[in-house]
Amino acid sequence: MRIGIIGAGMIGSTLAKLWVDADHEILISSRHPDKLQSLVDELGPRASTGTPADAATFGEAVLLTVPLKAVPALARELGPVLRGKVVLDTGNAYEQRDGDIAREASRNPRGSASWAAALLPGSKWVKAFNSVYYKTLASEAHRPNDPVGIPLASDSPEALDIASRLVRDAGFEPVVIGDLGRGKEFEPGTSVYNTGMSASGLRRAFGGRSAESREQRAES
Ligand SMILES: NC(=O)c1ccc[n+]([C@@H]2O[C@H](COP(=O)([O-])OP(=O)(O)OC[C@H]3O[C@@H](n4cnc5c(N)ncnc54)[C@H](OP(=O)(O)O)[C@@H]3O)[C@@H](O)[C@H]2O)c1
Repeated sequence: MRIGIIGAGMIGSTLAKLWVDADHEILISSRHPDKLQSLVDELGPRASTGTPADAATFGEAVLLTVPLKAVPALARELGPVLRGKVVLDTGNAYEQRDGDIAREASRNPRGSASWAAALLPGSKWVKAFNSVYYKTLASEAHRPNDPVGIPLASDSPEALDIASRLVRDAGFEPVVIGDLGRGKEFEPGTSVYNTGMSASGLRRAFGGRSAESREQRAES
C-alpha cells in the first residue's frame, strides 16, 4: 500500500521503517524535505520524501503524526486532498507543547481525535498509535508472543480495516475499542496510556467494552 506520512519525528520515522520492512511504499514528509534525505536513503527504495502536501497526495492511507498545534493549519492546507482518504491520527493533546489548541481539543467530549477529524470533514479518521511510546514500537515490533496492542477508534469501518492491517504489518495487534469518540479512553491520563500493554492486557483492561470483545462473544 502507498502510505503518506505527515511528520517525520519519533513516531513518523519509526513507523516508516516498520512499514517499509513490511513492503509498503512510504512518502515521509517534512516542511524541510531535504533534511530527510539521509533517512530515506537508509530506508531504501520503497521510501521517498516530500512536503506534507506530497504525502497527502501520495498516500492511499495517510499517517498524521505532528504536534496537535500544527493540525489546524495543515487541515486548511490539506483538507481537500485528504477528503475521502483514510487518516491514521497519532495525536495527543499536551498543554505544555500545544497551548490553547490542547485546551480546545481536550474540551471535546469525544476526545482530541474527534476534534481533529472535525477540521477535516470527509476524511475517514482513525485514532491509532497514539498510546504507545515510539521506543516501545521500535523495540517490541513483531514480538512472537503476546504482541503489543494498538487500540483503535473510528466511525469508519474502512478506516478500521486499513488501520488494523497496518498495525499488524508494523508488528503489533490491533484492538478495536469502538467509535471515534471512544478514543478518549486511551488518551494521556488514562490507565492504558503509555503502558506498552499487550493486546490481551488491553482487552482485559477494556473488559467487555472493546468492539472485538463484542464480536468474539457473538462468534462464540
Ligand atoms: N513520541 C512518542 O513516543 C509518541 C507516542 C504516541 C503519540 N505521539 C504523538 O504523536 C504526535 C507526533 O509525535 P512525535 O513525538 O513523533 O513528534 P516529533 O518527534 O516532535 O515530530 C513532529 C513532526 O511534526 C512535524 N511538524 C511540526 N510542526 C509542523 C507543522 N506546523 N506542519 C507540518 N509538520 C509539522 C515536524 O516536521 P518538520 O519540523 O520537519 O516539518 C516533525 O517531523 C504528537 O501528537 C505526539 O503527542 C508521540
